[in-house]
Amino acid sequence: MNTASTVPVTAVILVAAGSGQRLGYGMPKAKVPLGGDSILTHALRGVAAAGIARQICVALPPGDADLRAQCEGFLAELQTEHGRAAGAGDNVPLPEVTMVDGGASRADSVRAALAALLPGTQSVLVHDAARALAPEAVFHRVAASLAAGAVAVIPVMPVVDTVKTVEATHDGDAAIAPEVVTGTAPREILRAVQTPQGFELATLQRAHEAAAGFDAAQAAAVTDDAMLVELLGVPVHAVRGASQSLKITTPLDLILAEGLLEGPLGARWVEG
Ligand code: C5P
Repeated sequence: MNTASTVPVTAVILVAAGSGQRLGYGMPKAKVPLGGDSILTHALRGVAAAGIARQICVALPPGDADLRAQCEGFLAELQTEHGRAAGAGDNVPLPEVTMVDGGASRADSVRAALAALLPGTQSVLVHDAARALAPEAVFHRVAASLAAGAVAVIPVMPVVDTVKTVEATHDGDAAIAPEVVTGTAPREILRAVQTPQGFELATLQRAHEAAAGFDAAQAAAVTDDAMLVELLGVPVHAVRGASQSLKITTPLDLILAEGLLEGPLGARWVEG
């Protein structure tokens, strides 16, 4: 348990270096248009709106000048807004925006960003740019849990489908169906996991140092940061996520995200 009683100095790592192949746009996912802007710009605005970060560190596809320019455009937008707020007597500090080259895997991108955090950072939230519409309330729930003493905390949602484990059918049964069920997980204790995931910085660094030595199969099995922290034996706490935080992965997700932005529910529908 983190015993800090004050709000920790916090950075947000935004991982945006994925290829986005499943979306089928033939471009990195962060660049894909959503409601007139890119997925990256929406994600950056969401992080900034939460107002919890001293630093926003963005992992981008290496050498992608266009996404770099989009980050710089966002920074200019932030500076303009900050100037306006300061003029109105509102003294909220401007977060530092840092860009790093992402790596071959998501974990490599997180490691690259961890290496670029400012000295004095105490806690870090790692967020997928693909969850571009995550509401401020989720950032606040995660940050509040860290401030209350959690070392690791993730936003989660109840699972609505029944979830089963399967394996490939054995030779003789291949004509019947490609897979056979091996078990049914009890749904009441299952949770679907989202981002931003929050950590005491030293713990996340330790978890990622351990994972840097994984072989290819182990590395491929790493799908979030919390599982690396679980491997250290550190408790990972869970707070409520939001369906608005959907990970834009398939063309259907993009239709849903567009609907959230432009539909009858309003520009930035926020789930309670
Ligand atoms: O591929 P996946 O859907 O797990 O990606 C989740 C997030 O991780 C996305 O925002 C993506 O841009 C990011 N990512 C990354 N570097 C990679 C792979 C994925 O920053 N090499």
